[in-house]
Amino acid sequence: MSNKNIIAIDGPAGAGKGTLTKKLCDYYGFTGLDTGSLYRAITLYMIEKNYDMDSLDITKAINATKFISDNHEILEYAKNPKIRSQLTNKYVASVAKIPEIRQIMKQYQIEFGNNPPNLPDGSKAKGAIIEGRDIGTVICPNAPVKFFITAKPETRASRRLKEYLDQGESASYQEVLASIIARDEADRTRATSPMKQAEDAILIDTSENNKEATFEIAKKIIDERLTII
Ligand code: DC
Repeated sequence: MSNKNIIAIDGPAGAGKGTLTKKLCDYYGFTGLDTGSLYRAITLYMIEKNYDMDSLDITKAINATKFISDNHEILEYAKNPKIRSQLTNKYVASVAKIPEIRQIMKQYQIEFGNNPPNLPDGSKAKGAIIEGRDIGTVICPNAPVKFFITAKPETRASRRLKEYLDQGESASYQEVLASIIARDEADRTRATSPMKQAEDAILIDTSENNKEATFEIAKKIIDERLTII
């Protein structure tokens, strides 16, 4: 039977979607999918194969996406820490805007939502949380719970800067802020599946909330709407 317990989480980079998804998955026994990591994996694959990323050949990019999805290599690439490097960040929005690539990824995400993989301990997942930009609007428009998580660009830039420095990458606050603003703009204004709050999504601004407060707001709504057994 197809899974009905689907939670859609959308919002811009660095707003806290990943942290919230992890906490909710641990608490409810759900399996999570970070869909940004799929677009990052495709981008990293092409960088490593020396594609000309500044003037990308769309047909080659589509074929590469088909190839790594069919061979399940996409999941291996998605585990590579280099998907979060500044070089991948630079190109990922231009890969994610290609409609044919989004269409291939759409099928993958829908299948994940309907049949979430088992939890790390091998037990059956009680539901799925899918996070990205277009989950509540395009991928899972019928999800019973949808959140749109956001925060001020300055707050998000500070969080990302800390991640880079923790990984040993050098970066300046101004560079990271500029890159976040540019990526927001690219994600919001692209023609296919732009980042958008679904009409029935609940908005949570994490600029002033700590992780625990954000989790509690989300938990209250999930407990009202889902029966998790
Ligand atoms: O969430 P993230 O920063 O890892 O996302 C990486 C890029 O992929 C970002 O430019 C937005 C894009 N993306 C998308 O277009 N659709 C999604 N569902 C998830 C991410």
